[in-house]
Amino acid sequence: MTGPGDFAAVLEQSVASGDLGRLVFSRPLAGSEAPVRKVTIRPVVVRDTTVYQWAERRGAQEFHENLSPADLLTRATSAFPGSFGDATLTLPGTQSQFTRLPNGKVRRRDTAVQVSQASKTHDRQKNRLIPEGVPCPFLERIGVMTPDGRVRAAMQHKFRQINRYLEFVDDVLGQLPAEGKLHVVDFGCGKSYLTFAVHYLLTTLRGRTVRLVGIDRKATVIEDCRQIATSLRLDGIEFFAGDIADHQPDGPVHLAISLHACDTATDDAIATALAWSAQAILAAPCCQHEIANRLPAETLPGLNGFGIFKERFASLATDALRARFLESRGYRTQVLEFIDLEHTAKNLLIRAVRRKTSPETDSRGLAAYQQLKQDLRIDTFHLEAACERLGVPLS
Ligand SMILES: C[S@@+](CC[C@H](N)C(=O)[O-])C[C@H]1O[C@@H](n2cnc3c(N)ncnc32)[C@H](O)[C@@H]1O
Repeated sequence: MTGPGDFAAVLEQSVASGDLGRLVFSRPLAGSEAPVRKVTIRPVVVRDTTVYQWAERRGAQEFHENLSPADLLTRATSAFPGSFGDATLTLPGTQSQFTRLPNGKVRRRDTAVQVSQASKTHDRQKNRLIPEGVPCPFLERIGVMTPDGRVRAAMQHKFRQINRYLEFVDDVLGQLPAEGKLHVVDFGCGKSYLTFAVHYLLTTLRGRTVRLVGIDRKATVIEDCRQIATSLRLDGIEFFAGDIADHQPDGPVHLAISLHACDTATDDAIATALAWSAQAILAAPCCQHEIANRLPAETLPGLNGFGIFKERFASLATDALRARFLESRGYRTQVLEFIDLEHTAKNLLIRAVRRKTSPETDSRGLAAYQQLKQDLRIDTFHLEAACERLGVPLS
């Protein structure tokens, strides 16, 4: 037996985590004035935002309305147990059946189910880890959301970027230790939107304890981040002002992340993570100048005279060198599309997970890296030099 509050709490949690698959209200109660026989709610993504489609069946007709997460919570908790006798909530792997009994109490029964991920079919099949419309304390504190959970217009891009990055972090969790404290370092954390978001994902949404460290060379920005963490009473998050390469972790680092660490700072982040033998490395590179300035005219003569081609080619070549280099260090490496190109040209993310069985260096990967350097006709590369400085063996 449970109370109506339990239904509200389960619903709120499932909306906050993005886990709500479907909610159905049925068995309209005698005396409720609405001529609605049944309501079916499911998440849909419209223009890149998750909303909840509220479909009411009245007679032979169905009426649709899209609700924000906050409006859904208000409407749903008023519908049950006020107007309907049954509420069926489908979450990944579980179906919770809430029934209002004649004495006014609510009974809850949970059963295991298989849930199709293909239920969200509007513009994109995607569910945000942090949904819009549900107030989220850290996003409010860092100015991304209003107190009622609305994402500020100017922060929409940051909100989407953070959510997308969280998906990549969530995807590698299976490769990290399943128990105990996770040690994560964010290189070039800046205002730490991502650092706070990863803390929220790991602790609030995934129930892990963490040691999460943000590093940036801007001391004033780091001081602001510390104050935010203190005011939010966040556990396990720390900020250091200094250079990426100078930080000494106090124990094994499981996950190293960076988001748009400028130019060669991405290489410093990767090199440092390699020096620490981090289990997983996620790096979304920023602007790249090193190769653009160094690419000899004879590498691809057809590009000469078109600055933009040379710049974009140099950018892709840099990321290819990084990916090959990571493979050469025994990491399974992927290059993924980060966010839509309509938002930014900086849309790649390099994801590297340390192979469990491979030796520290991978001779095929190393040969591919050296071949690429030769094809590009460059003899030095910042990532390689940074690794040498940090004592990471190259062969
Ligand atoms: C473009 S900002 C990105 C900030 C944050 N990751 C984000 O996406 O909002 C890049 C940050 O990297 C920091 N940075 C660049 N090179 C660095 C280095 N070598 N050591 C520490 N921080 C560095 C800069 O101070 C800046 O705050």
